[in-house]
Amino acid sequence: MEIRYHDVVIVGAGLAGLRAAVELAGKHDVAVLSKLHPLRSHSGAAQGGVSAALGNAEEDSPLWHAYDTIKGSDYLADQYAVEVMCNDAPRAIIELEHLGVPFSRFDSGHIAQRPFGGHTRNFGEAPVRRTCYAADRTGHVCLHTLYEQALKQKVRFYDEFQVLDLCMSGDAVNGVVAVELKSRALVTFHARAVMFATGGYGKAWKTTSNAFANTGDGLGIVMRNGIPLEDMEFVQFHPTGLYQLGILITEAARGEGGILRNGSGERFMERYAPTIKDLAPRDIVSRSIYRELMEGRGAGPGKDHVLLDLTELSHEKIAEKLPEIESFAKIYLGVDPSESPIPVLPTCHYAMGGIPTDVNGRVTRDAGGTEVQGFWAAGEVACVSVHGANRLGSNSLLDLIVFGRRAGKDIAGFLKKSQGPLPLEADTSTRVRDLIDGLLGRNGGETVAEVRTALQRLMMDKVSVFRNEEGLAEAVRELRELRERAREVRVLDATMSFNSELLEAIELQYMVDYSATVAAAALKRRESRGAHSRDDYPRRDDENHLEHSLCFLEEDGSVTVSEKAVDLSLAASDPRFVPKERKY
Ligand code: SIN
Repeated sequence: MEIRYHDVVIVGAGLAGLRAAVELAGKHDVAVLSKLHPLRSHSGAAQGGVSAALGNAEEDSPLWHAYDTIKGSDYLADQYAVEVMCNDAPRAIIELEHLGVPFSRFDSGHIAQRPFGGHTRNFGEAPVRRTCYAADRTGHVCLHTLYEQALKQKVRFYDEFQVLDLCMSGDAVNGVVAVELKSRALVTFHARAVMFATGGYGKAWKTTSNAFANTGDGLGIVMRNGIPLEDMEFVQFHPTGLYQLGILITEAARGEGGILRNGSGERFMERYAPTIKDLAPRDIVSRSIYRELMEGRGAGPGKDHVLLDLTELSHEKIAEKLPEIESFAKIYLGVDPSESPIPVLPTCHYAMGGIPTDVNGRVTRDAGGTEVQGFWAAGEVACVSVHGANRLGSNSLLDLIVFGRRAGKDIAGFLKKSQGPLPLEADTSTRVRDLIDGLLGRNGGETVAEVRTALQRLMMDKVSVFRNEEGLAEAVRELRELRERAREVRVLDATMSFNSELLEAIELQYMVDYSATVAAAALKRRESRGAHSRDDYPRRDDENHLEHSLCFLEEDGSVTVSEKAVDLSLAASDPRFVPKERKY
């Protein structure tokens, strides 16, 4: 088998991976592996913006930003990590501007800022304009800019290489095994440092804003190597997905003045969040939408959706600030948003949990923070944790660029001290070969699509916005069965080149494994916090559950859930950060 060496191997070419690569490039030999062309990475789908207390529109401060992030997280975010992110945000935005990101501007020439859900001034007083943007294509332009910078600095890209395993030397990571999609050749990438920036995992749900590639590969791989996942029960549903499709309609639509209405035309968010209304955090807005539907106040003949009303915005304003969603509404639903409201429903959007890391992106393996030597993670695949139980809109792009850069810097420091790569074990690819041979050698069995559809239905029905003990227990049980079914699927396509059936069969195994951690952690958490809402335990329970979850995958496919302390360092000196009931 071919073996290639690079000092640093970064897996994933979204914003977190590219930002780390740009930090290291020119000084070290850096390779970025991506199963897609880098410009198809899902960071490019982030529409509405990136938060930073620049204060270009009105007074703002990183401390207010930190307060909103922690309150939005339902007090589960690690407070020091949030402080690090919010303090670094203004610098990170100016850096992006200098790298070439074409931000929208105010007439003064300053970077324009708009309101987003849960971002307020003066500790919750009223919405604040904190989110910097480039129309509604912010992730797209950031991705293009960082990719150009990485190319300019001669980062080595391996496009359409799908990583299938980690190489371990004892407890340390020293490379990855990948398959080249074009040839199906297995390649071992030997490295001194490996970083995962493999993104999120929304494809396990039927309705999602996530791209087809978001199958949680990074999470599946680390679990099989004994590394836990943190806070997997917290899965965000974005309030405004296009009805029946789940395609994202940015929160910026509400930031620019859009209003959610029920079937009677009522602005129902006034009842649920009287101070900030439609700009409440996403967990609250998504639940409010479902409450309206459950109480018979939905729109349309089936009363099965609500309406996002942009008709008060001028045609010019929509064309200038929200062109992308204008075209989505027209193309997919035949609705011109300046004339009629857009039918919407919540859509699975973002994973708050992931691979546990410290604020420098170092992967940790237990509640005590023991590092996995040679291994970093950043972006949606990681759990630092800055989003806790619920992420605020526009904090995601910020997380990617702040912690991608910090991981890059930390890897550079590590390389200075490290002697050289740890030697590879003789059998790096055995497990991957066995996996592929097992799938290709089978005649009978279900198709990948059949099992994946069953998984997506199960997660949508029982591990969704509202949860309860019975449904979650059933989900845990059914996921054990799905694990077996996923291992038994048939792969009829035996071709060597771009064998997507084979790769989807492997992705399905990851999907089932991480879904099992979501269900197990959700079953264990007998409270409601942020995006995790239990009908049977409707209150937050700080006495018993103000703690992160850590999920370990056992050999037999079962999941063990343990706890990890939440960092409350800001609360120790400032009573405003002490957990309390969230009111908006
Ligand atoms: C949006 O524009 O609403 C999505 C961006 C995000 O999730 O932060």
